[in-house]
Amino acid sequence: MAEELHIPRHIGIIMDGNGRWAKKRGLPRTAGHTKGAEVFQKITRYCEKIGVKALTVYAFSTENWSRPQSEVDAIMNLLRRYLKDAFGFKGENFKINFIGERSRLAPDIIEKIEEIEETSKNNTGLILNVALNYGGRDEIVHAARSLGREILSGKIKPEEIDEAAFESFTYTAGQPPVDLILRPSGEQRISNFLLWQCAYSEFVYMDTLWPDFTPADLDRAIREYSGRQRRFGGI
Ligand code: FPP
Repeated sequence: MAEELHIPRHIGIIMDGNGRWAKKRGLPRTAGHTKGAEVFQKITRYCEKIGVKALTVYAFSTENWSRPQSEVDAIMNLLRRYLKDAFGFKGENFKINFIGERSRLAPDIIEKIEEIEETSKNNTGLILNVALNYGGRDEIVHAARSLGREILSGKIKPEEIDEAAFESFTYTAGQPPVDLILRPSGEQRISNFLLWQCAYSEFVYMDTLWPDFTPADLDRAIREYSGRQRRFGGI
């Protein structure tokens, strides 16, 4: 990529369009998720290569449980397959976190994600956040609850709560700000993704379906991001 490009420090991706990709090919929707998972691996490695510091991918939302049970099961089983070898990233320097409410996940999945977090916690490369049973509103409620507990235990006074205190209870505390949120597949919605973090994110929407998404598409999104003037409320 050309030198003058601004590489976003943190990118959020809504990996959308798997079902439509499969339908177009006369395949079951789950085939789209399988291809989507391969693309996720490729794009993660590419992000590290071009110098992105953190990547957050929306793998399963708090609302996705309302899909047919067979599809939920297929996504969870696909996840299990990938968790076996830490998404194929063993030996790579990624620090892998899982964000979202994990208590609703199956015990074997919880065990695996804790193990992956533990083994990768001292890695110094790309921070990869995999959003699983994640909802932006749910994350905000969690943070509010944690702050409530801090008040009760006398650690903080209500009037001392500021944005930094709130931020410290979000799942991405201490990580670079989310500079760019990317949604392929033609939809232009945030869908409960990174609601706190997206306050000043740039949004890039693209028509490509996620299973067709390539590093060249990411380059295109970064070029668009680079050309934007970020004012953060100033002039
Ligand atoms: C959105 O496409 C995709 C999902 C709800 C699941 C995302 C899952 C993966 C990419 C694979 C599993 C992930 C990992 C990390 C192993 P959609 O089904 O809503 O597509 P549609 O809008 O075309 O129906």
